[in-house]
Amino acid sequence: MTHPCTRVAIIGAGPAGFFSAEALLKSGDPVEIDIINRLPAPYGLVRDGVAPDHQAIKSVTRVYSRLLARDEVRYFGNVTLGVDVSLDELRARYDQIVYAVGAQSDRRLGIPGEDLAGSHAAFRFVAWYNGHPEFRGANFDLDCEDVVVIGNGNVAIDVSRILVLSLDRLATTDIADHALAALRGSRVRRVTVLGRRGPAQASFTNPELREFGRLAGVCAQVEADELDLDPASEAALEGNAVKTRNMATLRGYASAAPEDGDRVVRFRFLVSPLEVLGEDGRVTGVRIERNRLVEQEDGYMRAAGTGETEVVPCGMVIRSVGYRGVPIPGVPFDERHGIVPNEGGRVVRASGGGEIVPGEYVVGWAKRGPSGVIGTNKADAAATVALMIEDREAGLVAGRGEGGPAAGDLADLLRERGVRRVDEAGWRRLDAHETARGKAEGRPRVKLCTVEEMLAIAGSAG
Ligand SMILES: Cc1cc2nc3c(=O)[nH]c(=O)nc-3n(C[C@H](O)[C@H](O)[C@H](O)COP(=O)(O)OP(=O)(O)OC[C@H]3O[C@@H](n4cnc5c(N)ncnc54)[C@H](O)[C@@H]3O)c2cc1C
Ligand SMILES: NC(=O)c1ccc[n+]([C@@H]2O[C@H](COP(=O)([O-])OP(=O)(O)OC[C@H]3O[C@@H](n4cnc5c(N)ncnc54)[C@H](OP(=O)(O)O)[C@@H]3O)[C@@H](O)[C@H]2O)c1
Repeated sequence: MTHPCTRVAIIGAGPAGFFSAEALLKSGDPVEIDIINRLPAPYGLVRDGVAPDHQAIKSVTRVYSRLLARDEVRYFGNVTLGVDVSLDELRARYDQIVYAVGAQSDRRLGIPGEDLAGSHAAFRFVAWYNGHPEFRGANFDLDCEDVVVIGNGNVAIDVSRILVLSLDRLATTDIADHALAALRGSRVRRVTVLGRRGPAQASFTNPELREFGRLAGVCAQVEADELDLDPASEAALEGNAVKTRNMATLRGYASAAPEDGDRVVRFRFLVSPLEVLGEDGRVTGVRIERNRLVEQEDGYMRAAGTGETEVVPCGMVIRSVGYRGVPIPGVPFDERHGIVPNEGGRVVRASGGGEIVPGEYVVGWAKRGPSGVIGTNKADAAATVALMIEDREAGLVAGRGEGGPAAGDLADLLRERGVRRVDEAGWRRLDAHETARGKAEGRPRVKLCTVEEMLAIAGSAG
C-alpha cells in the first residue's frame, strides 16, 4: 500500500521554504509538509536580514504564519540538517526533500588585510544587529569616526543606514538590544560607500537610495565628477527606470552640504579596494584604485583598474559584496557559485549538468545564488514545485519507496536523540513573548538573542 499523502521535508523556514509550502498546498494534491529550520524562530532573512527600521517589509510573515497553522504543516525549529538529523535519515522518511537553506556565509574580496580586526563581512554585521543567536557575541568596535562600506547593493545601503540612523529612530525598531546599546556608544560620523563600477551599474533600488535624503541628521553626498557617464552607460540608462531614478537621486546628492552635527554618507564610484590597511592588527584605511569601465562583448560593463590609487582612512570596514551558500553534508554543492547545483530546481549531482538526484529539489538563494527580493522567491518556488508535482506523477521520488515510511516519524527520532525541537506552538509562545515585551517599550518586538533564552520561552516539543 502506498502512503496516501506525499511526505515532503522542506529544509529552511525562510521565504523560499514558505513559498514552496504554499505552492505545494495550493496544488491540491494530498501532502504532509515538515519544515525543518536551524534556528528556533522561523522566517530566515525576513527576521535576521531585513533591516529593523523596515518593518513594513516584514508583514509578509503573516502569510507564513498562516501556513504554519495549517494541519498539513509541522514546524521543526532548532533542528539543523547535517547536525541533528542526517540526509539519509530524511531520505528514509520523506518522498521529496526541498533545500531552502539560503546563503549562510559571505563572499570574500580576496585582498590583503581583509581579516584585520575592524574589517567585517556585512553578513555578520547584519546578523548581529538583527539578533541572530550565532552572532550574539560578535564584537563591532564603533569607536571610530569613519567607516568604509564596500559594495553597491541594497545590503550596503542597509548597513550604511543603520550606522547613521538616529538613536531615537533605532529605539523604535526591533533591532537587537545588544546592537542598540553598542550603537548608543558609536562615534561614527562618516560612512563612505565604495562601488567598483559606475552609478549606472549600482544594484541599489531607488527607494532605498532615496531614503538617505529624508533621514533626520543625515547628509548623503556624492562627488559630482564620479557621476559623469561614459556613452555606453548613458545608453544603458534608456528604458531602465530604476537606474535612471538612481542617477537623478545621486545628482541631487551631489550638491548636498551637511549641516552642523549631520552624519555623512558619501558615495564613491569607479573605485576598487586593493588592500585593507592596518596598524597593530587594526584597520586604519582602505587603499583604493580608480577604475574605468570596459564594455564586454555581451554588453556587461567591467571595471578595469587605471593604476591611480588613493587611501580612504577609516577605523572600520564592512565588506558587502554578496552572500554565499555553504555546503551541507551529503548535499551536492557547486563551489564556484556557492549553490546547490540544479536544473530548474531539480538537484543534480554536479554543476553544469549531471545526474538528477531523484526526489530532491532546491529553491530560493540556495538555487539561484544570493540575489532577489522576498517576492522573487515566490515565482521561483512555484517553478520548482511544478517540477515536484511532475516528478511525483511520474513516480520519481526519494528513497522511501513503496509500502509506507521506511523509518519512523522524524519527531520520534529527534525526541530519542534529545534534540530540543521547537514546534509551532513553541514558536507562537516565543512570538507572543517577544511582541509583548516590544509593546511595553513601544517597539514591534524585543528579540531574544540566544538559543537558550528562546528555548526557555518556547519550550521543546515532546
Ligand atoms: C541584509 C538583507 C536585507 C534584505 N532586505 C530585504 C528587503 O528589505 N526586502 C526584500 O524584499 N528582500 C530583502 N532581502 C532579500 C530576502 O531576504 C531574500 O530574497 C530571501 O530571504 C531569500 O530567501 P531564502 O528562503 O532563500 O533564504 P533565507 O531567508 O536565508 O532562509 C534560509 C533558511 O534556511 C535555514 N537553514 C539554513 N541551513 C539550514 C540547515 N542546515 N538546516 C536547517 N535549516 C537551515 C536558515 O536558518 C533560514 O531560516 C534582504 C536580504 C538581505 C541579506
Ligand atoms: N530593501 C531591499 O529590498 C533589500 C535590502 C537588502 C537586500 N536586498 C536584496 O538582497 C539581494 C542581495 O543584496 P546584496 O547587496 O548582498 O547583493 P548585490 O545586489 O549583488 O550587490 C553586491 C555588490 O557587491 C559588489 N561586488 C562584488 N564583488 C566585488 C568586489 N570584488 N569588489 C568590489 N565590489 C564587489 C557588486 O558589484 P558589481 O555589480 O560590480 O558586481 C555589487 O555592487 C539583492 O537582490 C538585494 O536587492 C533587498
